[in-house]
Amino acid sequence: MKMSYSSSLFALHFSVLLQFCTHRAMGWGPTDPTDGFVSLPLNSSSFLILKPYDLLVSDRYSFIDGVHRLWVFATDKPHALTSITAPRTEIRVPGNYSSGVWQFEGYGFVPNGTSGVCIMQIFGASTHATTAMVRVYNGSLTYYRSPVLVPYIYDRWFRLNVIHDVGRKKVSIFIDGVLKLTVDDHGAASHNFHCGVYAQNDRSYYMESRWKDIKVLKKM
Ligand SMILES: *[C@@H]1O[C@H](CO)[C@@H](O)[C@H](O)[C@H]1NC(C)=O
Ligand SMILES: *[C@@H]1O[C@H](CO)[C@@H](O)[C@H](O)[C@H]1NC(C)=O
Ligand SMILES: *[C@@H]1O[C@H](CO)[C@@H](O)[C@H](O)[C@H]1NC(C)=O
Ligand SMILES: *[C@@H]1O[C@H](CO)[C@@H](O)[C@H](O)[C@H]1NC(C)=O
Repeated sequence: MKMSYSSSLFALHFSVLLQFCTHRAMGWGPTDPTDGFVSLPLNSSSFLILKPYDLLVSDRYSFIDGVHRLWVFATDKPHALTSITAPRTEIRVPGNYSSGVWQFEGYGFVPNGTSGVCIMQIFGASTHATTAMVRVYNGSLTYYRSPVLVPYIYDRWFRLNVIHDVGRKKVSIFIDGVLKLTVDDHGAASHNFHCGVYAQNDRSYYMESRWKDIKVLKKM
């Protein structure tokens, strides 16, 4: 009696475990960051590109075979004549928001050598200029200057998902589908997502990131 009870319990546990692993392996399991979100329509051929104000978009950006490539030099000018911010070449992804639960998804690539740079940000906040920044320093992917999200990120494609829950004032960052960090946001504002290269402290002379399959998603 005891024997048959525990073996059926084992069979039950094994079948639950098997379902869980199958879901995870197929990429649509219960822990996928996009579960419960709807992808909003985006036309990536018409993205607004922020780039040094004295240059053409094509001097710092290309879009070939679905890959957005953005680069900037440490000595470049800011994105606007009236701006005193550091040089950047960034996609400002359409979709401004000030409430709700929003998500950025993109596949990113940072070539070896790019350092001291923000590669993705949630623009707008009340107590800071930004709600969140994902940066690269010496090969590590970081949230602002710390903590480290991935110790070595160069020269490979990675999946980045960033969820901003405005009501709960929380930001969650996922790399390759794995939750790496949940932190407080920096207060109410009109927000939008940027990705590309925006120079920070200890910047390398040349900075580049590449992006594909950029999505904006919203929890419905
Ligand atoms: C996307 O934008 C490009 C450039 O503005 C335009 O030529 C194209 O027709 C747009 N595509 C769609 C599906 O709206
Ligand atoms: C979205 O926000 C940016 C500031 O980040 C602003 O310049 C732009 O006009 C806004 N777009 C819309 C459609 O409200
Ligand atoms: C990255 O570049 C540096 C300097 O050029 C080189 O020494 C290093 O081996 C490179 N690392 C990888 C993983 O390619
Ligand atoms: C990155 O490396 C440079 C040169 O070795 C060093 O000066 C700098 O402090 C490092 N930055 C970080 C954030 O580790």
